[in-house]
Amino acid sequence: MATQLPTADIRISADAIRRRKAGTPIVCLTAYTYPIARLLDEHVDLLLVGDSVAMVLHGHKTTLGASLEMMIAHGQAVMRGSAKACVVVDMPAGSYESGAALAVASAQRIVAETGCQAVKLEGGVDMARQIEAIVETGIPVMGHIGLLPQSVEKDGGYKIKGRTDDNVTALLADARAVEQAGAFSVVIEGTVEAVAADISRRIAIPTIGIGASGDCDGQILVIDDMVGLTVDRVPKFVKEYADLRSVVAHAAARYAAEVRDRTFPGPENVFTATTGKDNG
Ligand code: KIV
Repeated sequence: MATQLPTADIRISADAIRRRKAGTPIVCLTAYTYPIARLLDEHVDLLLVGDSVAMVLHGHKTTLGASLEMMIAHGQAVMRGSAKACVVVDMPAGSYESGAALAVASAQRIVAETGCQAVKLEGGVDMARQIEAIVETGIPVMGHIGLLPQSVEKDGGYKIKGRTDDNVTALLADARAVEQAGAFSVVIEGTVEAVAADISRRIAIPTIGIGASGDCDGQILVIDDMVGLTVDRVPKFVKEYADLRSVVAHAAARYAAEVRDRTFPGPENVFTATTGKDNG
């Protein structure tokens, strides 16, 4: 059962997340819908409306299927379903890379139309200008370095980062660029464990790991992966804490059987001519 939404404004701010550096690990999950936000809100510090929604809920092959309108619609649903978590909405590919002016306009639209606490964008040294420009307008930014899902087509697949010396140097430079540009935290994705741990020690903003290191300041997973709803192969870094695939398949099979043998609907699921406890 989902708990009642708290009525008071008790949201965790991006700045409160920033102050958690090297403290109690920061618990983050993705969320895309109202009911899932309702269920997760009391358990997490931060909900990310990730552009993974394009793959997870809309069936696109990559996150490049996400649009600004899609992110805003899901951001609004998650804001309606949560009251405590810091809500961060991903900036989709095409909404920020070409320059600071576009990045600011897109970030302002996301915040104005969803009321979220912060936005996230992918890239390090190459996106520092965009991060700085958005932060200057007062909108907190979460960075994202390492394996960048918006670049997998360009990179020729999901390639783990930090396996060559050049790559390690570039990753540290990216982390420092994101920090200096004013981001309040940074996601490190698909990166060699020791490299992610080293970056976490060297920068002053919280690092949020996914396929990275237990020494990051927090962790994030895609909710559908974590509860076993993902139908395709899940990455090695995912731990499935539930098997909702089986639960849903089993429920659908029982429903189908009961419709076919006319045991559903039963007397308790239909209305009589006399008034009583109709409950809708
Ligand atoms: O889009 C997303 O879900 C993400 C997380 C996996 C970090 O960026």
